[in-house]
Amino acid sequence: MRTEEARPIRLEDYRPPDWLVETVELDVALDPTATRVRAALTLKPGSNGAAPAPLVLDGEGLILKSLMLDGAAVPAEQYVATSDRLTIAQPPPRAFRLEIETEIDPSANTQLLGLYRSGRIYCTQCEAEGFRRITYFPDRPDVMAVYTTRIEADKTDAPVLLANGNLVEAGDVPGSGRHFAVWHDPFPKPSYLFALVGGNLACVEDRFRTMSGRDVTLRIYVEPGKEPRCVHAMDSLKRAMRWDETAFGREYDLDIFMIVAVSDFNMGAMENKGLNVFNDKYVLASPETATDNDYERIEAIIAHEYFHNWTGNRITCRDWFQLCLKEGLTVFRDQEFSADERSRAVERISDVRGLRAHQFVEDAGPLAHPVRPALYHEINNFYTATVYEKGAEVVRMLKTLLGPDNFRKGMDLYFARHDGEAATVEQFVQCFADVSGTELAQFMRWYSQAGTPEVIAAGRYDARTRTYRLEVVQSLPPTPGQPSKEPMVIPLAVGLVGRDGRDLPLTLADGRPLARGVLTVKQPSETFEFADIGEAPVPSLNRGFSAPIKLVANLTADDLRFLAARDCDPFNRWQAVQTLATRLLVDNVAALRAGGAAHRDAGLLDALAAILDDGALDPAFVALALTLPGEADIAREIGRDVDPDAVFAARAALRAVVGEHLAGALFDHYRRLSEARPYRPDAAGVARRALRNACLDLLVATRRPDAISLAARQYQVADNMTDRAAALATLSLYDVPERAAALDDFYARYRGDPLIVDKWFTLQAAIPEPATLDRVKALTAHSAFSFANPNRVRSLISAFAMANQKEFNRADGAGYDFVTETVLALDPKNPQLAARLLSALKSWRVLEPTRRALAQAALRRVAAAPALSPDVRDIVARTLGED
Ligand code: PHE
Ligand code: ZN
Repeated sequence: MRTEEARPIRLEDYRPPDWLVETVELDVALDPTATRVRAALTLKPGSNGAAPAPLVLDGEGLILKSLMLDGAAVPAEQYVATSDRLTIAQPPPRAFRLEIETEIDPSANTQLLGLYRSGRIYCTQCEAEGFRRITYFPDRPDVMAVYTTRIEADKTDAPVLLANGNLVEAGDVPGSGRHFAVWHDPFPKPSYLFALVGGNLACVEDRFRTMSGRDVTLRIYVEPGKEPRCVHAMDSLKRAMRWDETAFGREYDLDIFMIVAVSDFNMGAMENKGLNVFNDKYVLASPETATDNDYERIEAIIAHEYFHNWTGNRITCRDWFQLCLKEGLTVFRDQEFSADERSRAVERISDVRGLRAHQFVEDAGPLAHPVRPALYHEINNFYTATVYEKGAEVVRMLKTLLGPDNFRKGMDLYFARHDGEAATVEQFVQCFADVSGTELAQFMRWYSQAGTPEVIAAGRYDARTRTYRLEVVQSLPPTPGQPSKEPMVIPLAVGLVGRDGRDLPLTLADGRPLARGVLTVKQPSETFEFADIGEAPVPSLNRGFSAPIKLVANLTADDLRFLAARDCDPFNRWQAVQTLATRLLVDNVAALRAGGAAHRDAGLLDALAAILDDGALDPAFVALALTLPGEADIAREIGRDVDPDAVFAARAALRAVVGEHLAGALFDHYRRLSEARPYRPDAAGVARRALRNACLDLLVATRRPDAISLAARQYQVADNMTDRAAALATLSLYDVPERAAALDDFYARYRGDPLIVDKWFTLQAAIPEPATLDRVKALTAHSAFSFANPNRVRSLISAFAMANQKEFNRADGAGYDFVTETVLALDPKNPQLAARLLSALKSWRVLEPTRRALAQAALRRVAAAPALSPDVRDIVARTLGED
């Protein structure tokens, strides 16, 4: 394991590399416990200055077997090799060839970083700093080299041998039972994009003709027998390839594109050049095994990794501080792809829900950091909602501010100017400044200032002067290391909605129309005036969630109901319902804590009834509107002294009230949407099932016996996983006999399929009852569970800690104890997984005093434990705010 890095890495300390690598020839002889790696590097001095610098190569847990320079063994006194560094103090001041032989043990690699085994498959994961676990190397993204990889392995053990690029040679090693393959990747790449795979894999093949007429072979490799479950992934890949050509003019560049699905993976997937490695959860799908939601995630992640080929691979990051340069941009691209493939409004609402549930929470707590951090202790801990999701919002804001044409021109310039380079955020933004002639210096604060801006907007209509004045005040709360902030540039998309529901024309006081309906807010406080407004409008602000802000507007309940029914911006129709519900829920939490009863809100119920009745709406939109704000949304709104029991109770009560009030309509819609049709994961089918299951969920929330038996019946007769899992999810929230029966049945049906058993773990972890903690503990001993597999750990333990706020935050602290003890047990084996699990405690400071003290005590026990990994040490220190 790595020794603790006491000193942080700082952006301002960046220096170009002293030594560059032009080519890498790797020769890897796979063996379960003693894999021999020979690396031949051609090195040359960087452009760093006059004096030839020492050559310092990164390593981690390596054993050096031999070292040759320009064909001759390097004398022992001329180098120092430790397990985590190889130093040649006085290398020749010119280009030379270095041959390094190391030995590694893939079976002992439980971190799943570097070369490891997933089942019987050999695979690699090198982002961010895993290549140094394979060989000594300047393991930093601004060192880009051309790789040739020879892999050799036992023929029966690993009949398939893959690496980046194109296959150039393959054959037997005579008389040894072994064979080899040689792959060459002509595109210079950083070491984190290196990959190799060996194993007994089946493959599904297809073809894609690019826009310039080149034929590309597409292959998805999976465990033998799983081939039929690759149809959706392959289809998604082809659609993503086509979309990148049309939307961004980007074409694929190698002759072959491969995806390998493995069962043991720390993250979702990895964009290695020409050889993406995936968590099999994001590849495998069939109607019987995967839900609509799984289908959507697979499509999005396949697209995401594919899109990295241009945003991440062809143009990579200069250093890890620039992570959002590839991740935020690529998330933006995959969101746009999904929006074009499905419903734009529904995609946007789902994305914003995710942003608020994860990124806003992160931004409001001790782990808050800028989209581009200025400092880190452990880069693994910065693959966060802020870098990914807020990073995507920042790119989206550029598009909103500059308009679609300038945005496309800026992207074209970025690809033209920086292809083949390791770039920075400044270089990216400069492309947009150049094509649009816009000054973007203030905009850069989105990359450097952490925290969610709060915007207070107050509008006033003056009938006498026929003007509408909108006063906008922005502020940005302090975050760790950033006590005071500068004002942001906020693109605020607005509409003024007239009584008939139509938007009034927006003319600024100077007589010009407001371009694209977007106000650019730059000052701490600013007033915008619209002329020629003939009636008192209702303002619709931050349409489409044009900026990732927390908006407080002076809208009455009547205004919100009006917007919910009439706004032409679907996002704000949905938002209006959410705001109504959130206001009520926050009041009710306070009422319940004061020993009173929850209130009803006839206005909210009417608004929901109207949306449910509006036959013109996309059923997927209606389903989202019927989904009340989550517990995390309510807790965030309350902001301090949060009692998770009261939050849960208020929400559960309101769900029951809505279900009761709308029961007639909900039953009607349920039946109307039930007519038998074959399962198809297309937008229409998804929407129909989403609404039907949302209706069922609200009905079951009433605990009416007829609703419970409807769910039990749906569970039994469902011909697809979406409907079966939805019925089970809603049933499992309530202590009814049907629940135990259905859970047992589910396990019995799917016990042979780990990815489905994961759903079974998650559903049980989410049960909002005191017995759940013991149930989860007991399940860790279940034969289907394993602490060594990240998907199992996440589906049971992370689900408990993140999706069951009530039971994780038990008033006796036992939830915190269980999770932190699990973190400590996992840490020596898989620090990345442990650190991520620990981040479930990131909101401890907003809890009411008893829980806050218990959470803090649990965190302190982690901090005091001996021999923490850098990953867990960093998270615990920042979470406690004591570093
Ligand atoms: N780069 C991957 C992605 O977002 C995520 C990842 C990071 C995977 C680190 C593995 C390790 O596409
Ligand atoms: Zn990514």
